[in-house]
Amino acid sequence: MGRVENKVVAITGAARGQGRSHAVHLAREGADIIAVDLCKEIESAGYAMASNEDLEETARLVRETGRRAVVKYADVRDYSAVRAAVAEGVAEFDGGLDVLIPNAGILPMGPDVPVGGFAASIDVNLIGMLNTVHAALPHLRDSASIILSGSIASFLPPMGEDVMAGSGYVGYRFSKQVLVEYAKELVLQLAPQGIRVNSVHPTSVDTDMTNNEAMFKTYRPDLDTPTKEDIDPILATIQAMPITHVSTADVSHAVVYLASDESRYVTGTQIRIDGGAIAKHRL
Ligand SMILES: NC(=O)c1ccc[n+]([C@@H]2O[C@H](COP(=O)([O-])OP(=O)(O)OC[C@H]3O[C@@H](n4cnc5c(N)ncnc54)[C@H](O)[C@@H]3O)[C@@H](O)[C@H]2O)c1
Repeated sequence: MGRVENKVVAITGAARGQGRSHAVHLAREGADIIAVDLCKEIESAGYAMASNEDLEETARLVRETGRRAVVKYADVRDYSAVRAAVAEGVAEFDGGLDVLIPNAGILPMGPDVPVGGFAASIDVNLIGMLNTVHAALPHLRDSASIILSGSIASFLPPMGEDVMAGSGYVGYRFSKQVLVEYAKELVLQLAPQGIRVNSVHPTSVDTDMTNNEAMFKTYRPDLDTPTKEDIDPILATIQAMPITHVSTADVSHAVVYLASDESRYVTGTQIRIDGGAIAKHRL
């Protein structure tokens, strides 16, 4: 028996990065996956989104474990599209949802991002997260688990560095902070049904969201063509532990725990996978 045997899990932003990692780790532990992604570009993000092939590859990796995968294309900013994706996905399985992971996100980085980046960030990270939860509510089985994708940004105060990070980052931080407040209310709304709500809060994760030119230039504006290696020494100062980032698997381990019945009375918690980054800020 796997740790999440026969549970049906819906994940947004499932085409790559953390979403794909969660899908594969959960499938290895016995879950069937509804994998949702936009798979189209969002210009204001400033880096490429996932492709159709990426989402199909996630499904292939899930099926390789022996579990079932359903692929749905939807933009989380579009409530009716997310509602249809979740409803159709659930209908293809057994008519109920055990785990929901609203994980889709963007991070438009840099001091030159116009104020539209602030709105674009909130549209995907906050409105998209709310759309996903609300679309899934009618399908959640008693004792289901909702796992929200937070960040260390959920706990960081506004700082001088925000000017360099730009409007898109400020919209991102705001979205991740509201997520924590939203979770506090949702926990109490759903606890009578035995449904749990928790969040994971990684520091930098080694995905396309951080491995892109806009991110490198934000941290090293002094270089013409900065690379990942150029920003690693700066990323290393964020955590208390001597690391530059965590891996997608580090986050997935927490996700599998929160998805499983091992955490059946755990609700309203925030798991920090951050190498002591928040502790370093004495927060
Ligand atoms: N990478 C990091 O350093 C980091 C740190 C903390 C938290 N997070 C959070 O983790 C989550 C996953 O990010 P990741 O690191 O895997 O990045 P990623 O860019 O690799 O993956 C994000 C996925 O979301 C999809 N997506 C974007 N906008 C969408 C939309 N409107 N509708 C549907 N899908 C959409 C993209 O196509 C992509 O597949 C995000 O919520 C992010 O904020 C990331």
